[in-house]
Amino acid sequence: MTARSEMLIQESKLGLKTLTIKIKRYDPEKNRFRTSIYRMEVSRYDTVLDVLLKIVRTNDHTLSVRYSCRMGICGSCGMTINGKPRLACMTNAISLGEKIEIEPLRNFPPVKDLVVDLEPLFHKHKQVKPWLIRKDFEEQFNPKKEYLQKPEEVDRYRIFSMCIKCGICMAACPTVASNPRFLGPQPLSQAYRWIADSRDEGGLVRLEIVDSQDGVFGCHFAGACSASCPKNVDPALAIQFLRRLVMRR
Ligand code: SF4
Ligand code: FES
Repeated sequence: MTARSEMLIQESKLGLKTLTIKIKRYDPEKNRFRTSIYRMEVSRYDTVLDVLLKIVRTNDHTLSVRYSCRMGICGSCGMTINGKPRLACMTNAISLGEKIEIEPLRNFPPVKDLVVDLEPLFHKHKQVKPWLIRKDFEEQFNPKKEYLQKPEEVDRYRIFSMCIKCGICMAACPTVASNPRFLGPQPLSQAYRWIADSRDEGGLVRLEIVDSQDGVFGCHFAGACSASCPKNVDPALAIQFLRRLVMRR
């Protein structure tokens, strides 16, 4: 038996595989991208984030990666993995094959290596007023009681309230790529989330905000947002609901 086949048997017993990780990283000092390639031993339970942190720990401490929760909640580990925007902490490494190519999230300005600036997302998100609006000023700012809801009322917006603001839908959207003014799937789905809330009275204000070519009418229904959302939010469906409300207004 050759040393190579012995090594392969050993690796399969331990569930280990050696993968090639190719990373496109942004260098802010030179304002350009460069590529680093690593060979890493990966277990079948490792996520892409685990692999990246192993690279930082054992191989290259200069590599910048952003993460926090490591469980698909904080939304900070979004990146392009084998051509698709995904959460690194929710993506199994071995299932991607022998070679993994990682780039920063598209449609956002890079900051360093795999870290991008999500501020454009937060800015657009704020534009749709993602909070409960009440017509009564006093009630809005000094509520005296809870606003109760029936389970079926919560069901109208529950799926859209799962958004973790990771920006993955924005990175997947071809309209965001071609028109930076387009609000995009995340803010539009959040506009619908609040309009659909029975406690909210700010529907007309938000419909005014989204009624334009940079709002609901800019969407070409490519569906890439919903296909890539790690929380199954379905922004494309929210945009269709929103467009219907705009037309009926
Ligand atoms: S809609 Fe989905 S993909 Fe888009 S920001 Fe929210 S959680 Fe992320
Ligand atoms: S580290 Fe929080 S979503 Fe991945």
